[in-house]
Amino acid sequence: MSITLKTAADLEGMRVAGRLAAEVLDMLVAHVKAGVTTDQLDRLAHDHMVQVQGAIPAPLNYAPPGYAPYPKSICTSINHQVCHGIPNDRPLKDGDIVNIDITVIKDGWHGDTSRMFVVGAGSIAARRLCTLTYEAMWRGIAKVRPGARLGDIGHAIQTFAEAQGLAVVREFCGHGIGRKFHEDPQVLHYGRPGTLDELVPGMVFTIEPMINAGGREIRELGDGWTIVTKDRSLSAQWEHTVAVTESGYEVLTLSAGSPPPPAFVNAT
Ligand code: MF3
Ligand code: CO
Ligand code: CO
Repeated sequence: MSITLKTAADLEGMRVAGRLAAEVLDMLVAHVKAGVTTDQLDRLAHDHMVQVQGAIPAPLNYAPPGYAPYPKSICTSINHQVCHGIPNDRPLKDGDIVNIDITVIKDGWHGDTSRMFVVGAGSIAARRLCTLTYEAMWRGIAKVRPGARLGDIGHAIQTFAEAQGLAVVREFCGHGIGRKFHEDPQVLHYGRPGTLDELVPGMVFTIEPMINAGGREIRELGDGWTIVTKDRSLSAQWEHTVAVTESGYEVLTLSAGSPPPPAFVNAT
């Protein structure tokens, strides 16, 4: 287990990859509506990455140990699906909440980001879950600075989510990222302050909390990829790729269409 530190030149490459991943989400915004299938979103995203960006969709044929190759270019996780949902021919319907997770490879560097989309108006409960999960991600990001520890990030996310009556999924975590899709360290979205690895400038990792409206328990579907909540309660997730800088953090997966950080980020 070893954490690779990125040089200034490496970070230049990761900034490009991160921005491109976010720009795929920007491009998809206008297409996420009732009646569109996730296969159509997958095709739009794939073609944009390959033909417009000159990038590679990292999920396509990705096969970590114990997994069959992932068959699509993006992940689309709807309602009670927690993560790794596989695009299919079912149309989105009014009120669905959808996580779209994009990972591009550009010049060998990975950028990994996801956002929640609400189809139509959405219920109050669904919108609240999406908004609070976004804030939970940023509670974690705001802890990132040299000298802080990974446990500080997890603790900030967990305490915020649980204070809102929500549950943090434990089986999946953020991850180091760079020339590889998933590197050390693991970035847990729960934990105790002052524990685990100390953050140092040049570390790059994702923060990507999965937050459930009901219980934290999950199960895997028979497709070998899709993760759902055991109680079928709604689940939300947001993801950014973040670098540790000399003075704090830099979010690498920002684009023109990124939602602004929650108010507390500028307030502190
Ligand atoms: N993008 C996911 C993450 O945030 C990983 C997806 S793996 C895939 O780590 F194969 F399902 F695409
Ligand atoms: Co990730
Ligand atoms: Co991702």
